This record gives sequence, structure tokens and C-alpha cells, in this order.
Amino acid sequence: MQTILITGATDGIGLAMARIYAAQGARLILIGRKPLADLSDSLFSAENYCQADLSQLDCVERVTLFLQTQMVSKLDLLIQNAGVGYVGAIGEQSAESIQNLLAVNLTAPMRLTHALFPLLQGGKVVFISSVASALPVTKYATYTASKAALDGFARSLRVELAGQVAVQVIHPGATKTGMHSKVGMDEKQYRRFPAAEKVAKRIVDAIATNRRTVTIGTVNAMVRNFAHTNQRFVEWGLGSKRRKLIAQDTARLHVVITGAADGIGRALAFRYAKAGFCVTGIDVDAARAAETEAELRALGTDANFISADLTQDLSWIAALPPIDVLIHNAGISNTGHFIHSDVDKQAAVIALNLVAPMQISAEILRLDKLNAGGSFVFISSLSKFVSYPSASVYAASKDGLAHYARCLRVARWPQQHVLTVYPGPVRTAHARRYSPDNSREASRMSPDVLADKIFDAQQDHKRELMPGAAAKGFAIFGRIAPRLAEKAMKRALLDKFPLPSKQ
Ligand SMILES: NC(=O)c1ccc[n+]([C@@H]2O[C@H](COP(=O)([O-])OP(=O)(O)OC[C@H]3O[C@@H](n4cnc5c(N)ncnc54)[C@H](OP(=O)(O)O)[C@@H]3O)[C@@H](O)[C@H]2O)c1
Repeated sequence: MQTILITGATDGIGLAMARIYAAQGARLILIGRKPLADLSDSLFSAENYCQADLSQLDCVERVTLFLQTQMVSKLDLLIQNAGVGYVGAIGEQSAESIQNLLAVNLTAPMRLTHALFPLLQGGKVVFISSVASALPVTKYATYTASKAALDGFARSLRVELAGQVAVQVIHPGATKTGMHSKVGMDEKQYRRFPAAEKVAKRIVDAIATNRRTVTIGTVNAMVRNFAHTNQRFVEWGLGSKRRKLIAQDTARLHVVITGAADGIGRALAFRYAKAGFCVTGIDVDAARAAETEAELRALGTDANFISADLTQDLSWIAALPPIDVLIHNAGISNTGHFIHSDVDKQAAVIALNLVAPMQISAEILRLDKLNAGGSFVFISSLSKFVSYPSASVYAASKDGLAHYARCLRVARWPQQHVLTVYPGPVRTAHARRYSPDNSREASRMSPDVLADKIFDAQQDHKRELMPGAAAKGFAIFGRIAPRLAEKAMKRALLDKFPLPSKQ
């Protein structure tokens, strides 16, 4: 008898899957946020239902304790299905709503995978993503970005867990469930979608296969494929077409750079200063920020550095003068074998690299701080094109960020422009800190060269920048031979991190 844990089992697709597996005679562990007393279905009992709100930090502890109480020592299947949506303009979503959505859709699945790995040996973890993770749907920017991040997490994690736990991603298309009414959609908009039972049946069939990723439905698969291979056309079709970017109307140009005290951010600060911009730098390291600010001022730049932790404090945004270029550069990583890593440090990567730029962008739009004709710049990573075993959460954050940037590009053109940058290894303390092998540090791109390229691409209003021939080549390699690229990344990175010795 299979033991199957399903998150988000109280409604929609999760509930329908639970019913199918129950009919097959599986032992079920069902997770939901509602109290058991509120669930009238006889499917739920004190022995199989665990109340855990996945937006809360204690959710993993609740699930693991429940499994211990029920003496579950092995899981054949972990179906990470719980999800919440958001529908609305990017600038209207509150920081709390963004935080909550990412906690349920991305951080909780990551934490649960980490905690339940010992029970999953020989089993499978399934992530329920969405067809929409390939589409820059502006009204669902944070939702689709959370699913794109989940896809990126799974792609790298699969390489890390090969031979121990299988990792599968399922992309259902639009389905008639409670999700739509919960985000305030009118029934007219979703009543024609296929029923949850039908989609759940197809998902269960897909889970029974060995396929790494499955899109539910032929039309959905065609849409996803098309969206992947024709990104520019899709963005054009969805809104960023024809019209020219509105001309910039400010005399005195102002750039805001997060993580500007060191590395790529510092190089960008000097590059924009050289072009005559006023520079606002935001950095958590107050001492380094003061040093960089003093160096810029010594060159005659109007520089103002603010010390703030972007995961805690966005109050500085309200006091900013109008902005011409906003560069989301701040980022951290956490490298090593995901399963043996500190999961709180991994959650901090999502908070800074993904949640904070979304919250800052929403607040900038809400307060109308970015001038007409201005640019948002997002520093993603080459990992978007290849898997990144040993940094699967970092890869997730950068996939999510790149997807969010696409949504913003479609939403804001022609008022504002969005550039996404995919750097490979850069010669900074960041790369040195997180790489298992710095013997070829000299071959990494200099931050000053990268800053020049970013400046030029932003000034030319390019959509994307893949800096350097090596990064371009590796991205193409990753696209045309993903499995070979995975092997190369595993050898170059993951295999160089020591595994903890067994006692
Ligand atoms: N419906 C679609 O069109 C569609 C399309 C593609 C992908 N998906 C994905 O499919 C999955 C299932 O969605 P669905 O359409 O079945 O939505 P749904 O009917 O709203 O079900 C979502 C489930 O997740 C649970 N949940 C939400 N927040 C939670 C939290 N903080 N803690 C614990 N459980 C929580 C819900 O609990 P409550 O019962 O308390 O709300 C519910 O059981 C999601 O990952 C969704 O993103 C859906």
C-alpha cells in the first residue's frame, strides 16, 4: 500500500486527487489549513488529516510531528499541491500579500521537501506548478513567478536527488476550482474551465509515469511549448508591442541600486556616476555603504547611500526623489547539497532575491516613483538556462525573478522599460564566497565590464542581456542539450561540495 502525502487537500485539485488515491486504497496524509471540525467529508479523519497553515513558519514542525504521531516512517509520494493565487495590477498587491503568496507556493514546498527527504527514499516528490509559469500574465505576476521559481527549484533539485528521490513537475492548465473565487474572480470567468476531478485524474496518471515534467492537456502543452520558444512574440502579443517607449522627461537622472556597496552593485554605481547620474545605493552593510558613498562623492557624484535590510524594511522608498533607473541587484546564495543545508538560510535567499524585488517594484509603482521612460533592471542569473545543482534555491529565486521581470515588461511598456540580465560567474566576493572552486577566478567576468554592458543595454532599452560569449554559449548549450548541461554543472559544482560523513 502506497503512503501519499498531499498538501492543499481540502479543496479543488488536491481534494479530487485525494479521493482518487483513497479509492485506489492508498494510505493518505492530508494537509490543509482548516480545522478538522470544519471538514464535512468523511475522507478526513484525525488519523489522516493534519492542520498546518503553510504560510506560517511552524507548518513543517506540525507536519513532521503529525507523521511521528501517526508512526509514518516512509512516504512513497509527496504531492506539493497547496497554492494561493492573486489577481490584480502589479502595483496594487501589498507587501504582505506578496510575502504570503511566496510562503505558500514556494518556501513551504522547499521546507517540506527538506524536512521529509529522509522519509522519501526511493519515493517521489511532485510539484504542482502551472501552465502559466511560461506566460508573462501581468495580472498574475507574483503567482506565475512563484510557479516559475518552483520549476527552477525542481530542475536543479532533480540533479541533486538523482538515485534517491524522483522529482516531477506537473503543469495543469486553467481548472474550475475554488482558487478563482478565493481571489475574487467572477464565476463567468472560470465556469468553462475543466472540472477539478477531470484534471486530478490526468495528474494522477501523469504521476504514475517516469516523466520529469508533464503538462496536462494537449492544448496546454502546445501553449507552453510555444510560449517557451517564442518569448519575444508572446510578450509582444500580450502588450509590449508597437509603441515606442515614452521619452524620458527629466533633466537630472537618478539611479537607485540595491546591494550597491560592493561587487556588481558598486561597479554599477560608478558606471552610472560616470554618466552623470545621481546615485542612491541601498545596502545592508552600513560601513561598506558609507565607504562607497564617500568614494563616489570624492568624484563629485551626488551620491546618497541608505543602510537597510530589504527583507525587513521598505520604508526608505517613500522618501526617494523620482527615479529614472531602478536596479534590483542585491542577492545572496546558499550553496552545497540542498538536503544537508540550513533551510532557514535557504528561505533567506528567496526573501532577498525574489520577495524583496517584487515588494519594492510594487511599492515603486504604487507611489509612482519611476519616471516616464524610466527602466527597471533585474539581475537574474545564467542559471535560468541551465540547472544549478548545489544552489537549487538560488536558481529558483532567479527563475522567479526573470519571470516576474517579463510580467512587469508586458505590464509597463510603453510607460517604462524592463531589462533582465543573466550574468554567468563574475569576479566578486559573492562568487568567491559561494563557489566550491575558485581556482579559475581570473576567468570570471570583471564587475566593471559587466556594469558597462548593463549600462549600454539599459540605455538602448534592450529586453534582455546575456553578458559575454561564454555565458551566451553556455545558455545555448543548456537549451539544446539540457541533460548534458546538467551533468557538466553537477561535475563542476555539486560534486565539489563534500557530503557530511555518516556517523
Ligand atoms: N485552478 C487552476 O486553474 C490551476 C491551474 C494551474 C495550477 N493550479 C495549481 O493547482 C494547485 C491546486 O489549486 P486549486 O485550483 O485546486 O486551488 P484550490 O481549490 O484553492 O485548492 C488549494 C488548496 O490549497 C490549500 N491552501 C491554500 N493556502 C494554504 C495554506 N496557507 N496552508 C495550507 N493549505 C493551503 C487550500 O486550502 P483551503 O481549502 O483552506 O482554501 C486548498 O486545499 C495549486 O498549486 C495551483 O496553483 C491551479
